[in-house]
Amino acid sequence: MRILLLNGPNLNTLGTREPEIYGTRTLADIEAMETERASDLGATVAAFQANGEGAMIGWLQQQAPAADGLIINAASYTHTSLAIRDTIIAIGLPAIEVHISNVWKREPFRHESYISGVAAGVIVGFGASGYVLAVEALVGILKEQAPR
Ligand code: DQA
Repeated sequence: MRILLLNGPNLNTLGTREPEIYGTRTLADIEAMETERASDLGATVAAFQANGEGAMIGWLQQQAPAADGLIINAASYTHTSLAIRDTIIAIGLPAIEVHISNVWKREPFRHESYISGVAAGVIVGFGASGYVLAVEALVGILKEQAPR
């Protein structure tokens, strides 16, 4: 099982970005946690972060043919990007949407997601641990799908 982990704009600054909202773990910490948990579950992780929509989409198009599932925190593009939604549909991989913060406790414009309607599930508000929950959920889905 090969899992794609895609993080969107400003998540490269985790650790120092609004720590009262996003915590103190860096993106490198999160990618390491994710890789370790995936490895326990028999999966590998290919991780990428970009601040631009085009780079995120390009990476997904390039990686998807050799992947089984996707964990995505599209950050602010969650609330704006029809293009990323279309890409998730097009690549056809089961996707888990993650948000570090509880977007439901925040501004109303964060309550809209272009991703949720095409995701297998959404994990919101558990801090960096949400990424570990996501890998557990995704591996569960992939094992269900696998021919017995
Ligand atoms: C976020 C929530 C988004 O609203 C915000 O734009 C982010 C991070 C989160 O992980 O909580 O950049 O996706």
